[in-house]
Amino acid sequence: MTSISATENGVTDDVLVVGLSCDSAKKLRIHSGSIKLDEKELISALTDLGATGSYDEVVKIPGTSTKLLVFTGLGAPLQDGSFSHERLRRAAGAAARQLFGHTSATFALTHRDDAGFAAVAEGALLGSYEFIEFKGASAVKDHKPPLKKIAIHSTITRATRAKALVSRAEVISRYTALVRDLINTPPSHLTPDSFSQRFKKLAASSKASIEILNDAQLKKFGYGGTIAVGQGSASKPRLVHISYSPKKAKARLAFVGKGITFDTGGLALKPAQGMEAMKSDMSGAAAVCAAALAIAEMGLEIAVDAWAPLAENMVSDTATRPSDIITIYGGKTVEVLNPDAEGRLILADALVRAAEFGKKAGGLDLIVDVATLTGAQSVALGTRTSAVMTNNQSWSDRFLEISESTGELFWPMPLPEELRPSLDSPVADIANIGDRMGGMLVAGLFLKEFVSDDLPWLHLDIAGPAFNTGKPHGYTPVGGTGVALRTLVALAEQSAGK
Ligand code: BES
Ligand code: MN
Ligand code: ZN
Repeated sequence: MTSISATENGVTDDVLVVGLSCDSAKKLRIHSGSIKLDEKELISALTDLGATGSYDEVVKIPGTSTKLLVFTGLGAPLQDGSFSHERLRRAAGAAARQLFGHTSATFALTHRDDAGFAAVAEGALLGSYEFIEFKGASAVKDHKPPLKKIAIHSTITRATRAKALVSRAEVISRYTALVRDLINTPPSHLTPDSFSQRFKKLAASSKASIEILNDAQLKKFGYGGTIAVGQGSASKPRLVHISYSPKKAKARLAFVGKGITFDTGGLALKPAQGMEAMKSDMSGAAAVCAAALAIAEMGLEIAVDAWAPLAENMVSDTATRPSDIITIYGGKTVEVLNPDAEGRLILADALVRAAEFGKKAGGLDLIVDVATLTGAQSVALGTRTSAVMTNNQSWSDRFLEISESTGELFWPMPLPEELRPSLDSPVADIANIGDRMGGMLVAGLFLKEFVSDDLPWLHLDIAGPAFNTGKPHGYTPVGGTGVALRTLVALAEQSAGK
């Protein structure tokens, strides 16, 4: 694990990281805060090296006062000459990814406010992630580990504030790493039960409590969606409920996350190519559980319940068949026309339960579900932008505004009522698939049936952004990204009036 601190003193580390920008006239500029460098000489050296200052470019040169000088690309500045917080976050992350094998580094990227300072800290930590749990001993011995110590240089942010921001960044990155680890862990090693046990251990030393329902209890209490999806697997389904309820809570939020530990498609078997990525189908569950623990650790004055229905969607003689009719928690029936549309079935159970529990606990202000729900999500928005659907415009606006500050890309999507009849079933209350066109929206409309109109609800489809099958970029590694955690935590911070 990487440790982090704030500093306003001279640089003592072997490595100094600074920003490099490039304006429309291709003029390079160094952005090193209050650290003085010989700009003229360095720009000429960087020009000779072919540096462009573009986003995700990292150039290392030998330093004079430090062993290594690292220039991380910031691209073109905004009109006022500054850089967005997300630009700083990504530039710090890109540099951290190029510094594996080094021990310590000081990041001195120019920023104008506390949020800019925090972004550099977050980016540096988020970029210092590795997943080597399943590498053999010799590979581990030869590999280059991420930075052990990071210092963020600032003369803008006051020391006490800097300390608090650095410690917040550390919490955020530690729980993001947990989400990434869980996503990267293959289904051979991550089952509904082992996922639950992992959080049971973590909750034991936190201010949150945890309750885990096993398959027998799920059956007994009527969680028909979760049972149906999990019944083809030898690894039985679970429902995890993490609850953080401080005395002075300003609001109560419920988070519900899709926890399919592997999605084969069931009897609607997915093609072999790309199926391996379906180990990421529990990204929503990991994000909501980790977010609840992060919020508890930060001691925010807000009550949070995280719900994670967990199942493995397998092929078997006991698997749910197309045409089977199941009963969701609370009594609604669903005709399962396609067992690959399984996420909505387990989420329906959990949404109904979360609302019921929230009501008894004094009333929910908002319920948010997070899910790798549809391939249509990435068709619509690509692999880096997630979708937000809602029954409450003002909460959606608020969420989108918060996501601007966390740097996670979200975009609003509609729930057009004319698509709803396509989910009608001749034999049950609703079918689990409808029109193929607008598949992301149809999935949202299905979930909407399980949320009461007077409960503000956000549905986040993170199918594309949850798992990076391409190259690493900015602070984002290959594999699990941890998306949604930062914005969920920031939403809780804002609701707690922090
Ligand atoms: N887990 C998948 C969605 C998914 C696809 C996530 C690709 C990440 C990357 C989901 O369970 C699924 O299979 N959805 C189907 C729904 C369809 C059968 C209505 C899909 O998108 O094809
Ligand atoms: Mn599926
Ligand atoms: Zn799925």
